[in-house]
Amino acid sequence: MFAQNKLNLIPYPQNIKLNEGNFTIPNVLLVSSELPKNETDYFKKRIASVLQSKDSKNADAQLVYSQLPKGAAGEEEFYILEVSPKQIRIQSYTRQGYFLALQTLSQLLEEYKDVKKIPALKIEDQPNFAWRGMHLDVCRHFFTVDEVKQYIDYLAMYKLNTFHWHLTDDQGWRIEIKKYPKLTQIGSKRKESMIGAYVDNTFDGKPYGPYFYTQQQIKEVVKYAQDRHITVVPEIEMPGHALAALSAYPELACTKGPFEAATKWGVFDDVFCPKDETFTFLENVLDEVIQLFPSQYIHIGGDECPKTRWKECAHCQDLIRKNNLKDEHGLQSYFIHRIEKYVNSKGRKIIGWDEILEGGLAPNAAVMSWTGVNGGIEAAKSKHFAVMTPGAYCYFDHYQGDPQSEPNAFGGFTPLDKVYSYNPVPSELNAEQAKYIMGVQANLWTEYILDFKQVQYMIFPRLMALSEVGWGTSDPENYKDFENRVITQFKVLDKMKINYAKSIYNISGKVIPANNGIDYELSTSQSSSGIRYTLDGTAPSLNSKIYQGPVPIPSSLTIKSAYFEDGQLKSAVSTQEFTISKTTGKNISLEQQPSENYSFGGAFTLVDGIIGNTRQLGKTWLGFQGKDVIATIDFGQKTVFSEVYFNTLENKGSWIHLAKSAKIFVSDDNKNFKLIKEISKEEIQNAKGKIRLNVGTQNAKYLKVNIENAGIIPPGNPGADSNAWLFVDEIGVN
Ligand code: ACM
Ligand code: ZN
Repeated sequence: MFAQNKLNLIPYPQNIKLNEGNFTIPNVLLVSSELPKNETDYFKKRIASVLQSKDSKNADAQLVYSQLPKGAAGEEEFYILEVSPKQIRIQSYTRQGYFLALQTLSQLLEEYKDVKKIPALKIEDQPNFAWRGMHLDVCRHFFTVDEVKQYIDYLAMYKLNTFHWHLTDDQGWRIEIKKYPKLTQIGSKRKESMIGAYVDNTFDGKPYGPYFYTQQQIKEVVKYAQDRHITVVPEIEMPGHALAALSAYPELACTKGPFEAATKWGVFDDVFCPKDETFTFLENVLDEVIQLFPSQYIHIGGDECPKTRWKECAHCQDLIRKNNLKDEHGLQSYFIHRIEKYVNSKGRKIIGWDEILEGGLAPNAAVMSWTGVNGGIEAAKSKHFAVMTPGAYCYFDHYQGDPQSEPNAFGGFTPLDKVYSYNPVPSELNAEQAKYIMGVQANLWTEYILDFKQVQYMIFPRLMALSEVGWGTSDPENYKDFENRVITQFKVLDKMKINYAKSIYNISGKVIPANNGIDYELSTSQSSSGIRYTLDGTAPSLNSKIYQGPVPIPSSLTIKSAYFEDGQLKSAVSTQEFTISKTTGKNISLEQQPSENYSFGGAFTLVDGIIGNTRQLGKTWLGFQGKDVIATIDFGQKTVFSEVYFNTLENKGSWIHLAKSAKIFVSDDNKNFKLIKEISKEEIQNAKGKIRLNVGTQNAKYLKVNIENAGIIPPGNPGADSNAWLFVDEIGVN
């Protein structure tokens, strides 16, 4: 039973030594009543489903603890866990170390309860990083006190120690502030919410809120977290992401208002105006926040603050002149410095997103590096602390599997192995600078996360990868070993009725050109022999065809696939619809390439038989910023057709505009092209971008389609004066 080369523990301890013999798991574990109470009670509750426990005054109780003499700084989380045939003994410098040891012991008991014995062993363990955090946005969607407590328990289970509570944003203010009751009376509500994919620009029409935490509830959560040795870091956003606050106190803005809490997701121009009145307000708010949260750090946001209003505000321009600031970025820096000074005067420190680096970092500020790793590098090089949370690895609002078999998410693609591959210390830093990397955190923004079940889905199992990365024992070369330990943890999650993602089993599909048409290749990170599929629209079952290699797609159809193991369905069902036309799988070339973020699959995306899905902008569509689509398709032989179709998108908020015109040409030699159809902007607008053109009967070897980009975005639109985006999904002919 101990033949496996690793114990099923997450995060994996730094040091494990297996000894002779076993500890027999008793029906009733004797727990010395001299043990630290809170931590021990939590342990008893956690393992209640595995075994009973009983207080014992006896020094020979099976679970005993001894506190080590005072340790060095940084050893607060150190623990020793010794399992011997007669006893389990924990040693640590602090109660936090004791608590962490109990989490390891709980995993061992859960893992070995069936075989009733734990191998004798000695674990000596402590984390590499002091900040191991998870963030939760309660503004875009709200979660109850009870749900927040469950979330904190998940952190504790996997030895994370910091809960970053994102309490204020454009879409809602969620913390009671006694001095400013309108923040929650008005600012905790919005008229309606966006639903579906962002580019669909659709709203639910349902009022949302009032939702907020009373100060009493906040205290309760902070205490709950403290009992689990988790620090709660509150975030109060400034100067941007302030619309909910401005809806309650419009006098704090540059313009008169009125303002409303945002119903859309995104970034908004109306932000706090840096006037004395605003600073008084924020200082009063921070006074109450500091009273409620004992954390050393207070997160003051700082991200995504457009300078539009500041540029046009007489007060702001005056302030720039009076303080000899360089520009509005200097004003952002002035804002953050002033707030930092105040927070420091209360004995606390600030942490903020990358953008607090704009115009110069405040003297004692720490940076939370999210846009990439450069913010963290810059901070560390200038001897400021940093927490690494780069979007590409640490944003758990991204998809964790192929979007076609995942619930709607923000976008991006951050599967379990990607999270696991992250190294929080950028290679650009030397050893001295690396000491300023405090740790790592994952963020859960909740625009597309409607309820707590979905919160669970998005954090599990990725939280386990984060946990091991933060502990410092991740080994990306051995990802499969980690994945196996994750699969073992699924049993624990099942027992807790946690809705975790099974995306590691899910099927990914890839269209490949074949025999003048297309094949569809299916894969999973597990063995591909577990994949079964259907072509008739029915759900795959154990009776369905076993996947044996790329599946030819000769005609329009829907392929459904899923992964089975041990006679059980393990994955979500993956569904892909194909619309086959005479262009499908043919050679295609583009005169200008799409933008990097929206070019997955390249030109072939336009003839892959897949009509665009707005949830998969980067996969089923190609995006061109400021460029026309000039595509030439080679049918290989003369081909008869009478209809040409393609779709283009419109979402002005995302700078995506319909085409200005489109022209269709044919040729037999790929040199001389004949114009066969032209449509205007009005016709494209009338068709809402879904273009179906009757071109009369054609017989040609080449088709050329020229779709004209809308060009420079006109005034009065988001992104005015910038290049518009043009999105196209597929060019088909019938
Ligand atoms: C962020 O994602 N705006 C910090
Ligand atoms: Zn102003």
